[in-house]
Amino acid sequence: MAGSITLTIIKPDAFGAGKAGKIIAHLEEGGFKLVAARVMRLTLAQAGEFYAVHKGRPFYTELVEFMTSGECMPMILEKAAAVSALREAIGATDPAEAAAGTVRKLFAESKGRNAIHASDSDENAARESRFFFSETETIRS
Ligand code: CMP
Repeated sequence: MAGSITLTIIKPDAFGAGKAGKIIAHLEEGGFKLVAARVMRLTLAQAGEFYAVHKGRPFYTELVEFMTSGECMPMILEKAAAVSALREAIGATDPAEAAAGTVRKLFAESKGRNAIHASDSDENAARESRFFFSETETIRS
């Protein structure tokens, strides 16, 4: 049975520290299938657009600067109920509050430098997937 999709990003802290392979392995072991992946460095305009929903919040400038500070790795993942499954797998925003065995507990440094992004709804998963990937870059089963 084909699952639904979600969008994740291995953020610059984790990618720069060479943790991408371990994070992908952890997600695959958790039953997520890689549908699309790329390595890129976001421009300020791209990061600003991606996080437009957070514009005006106190951490917005820091967030955009951090997300443009190095390479990151956007990926589309597939699994049954992918959005909620991935949010559970990555853990709380602040790694200090994340449950044992979650990606942020295992690989993140702090609330700001928290290793990984996950879409928060099916609608945003679709929007964020289109933001990073064209149809021809996305495999379909
Ligand atoms: P994420 O949920 O992936 O997307 C928004 C990001 O803003 C969040 O991860 C954190 O990395 C970052 N952030 C930094 N400070 C805060 C804060 N005080 N509250 C929420 N998010 C924050």
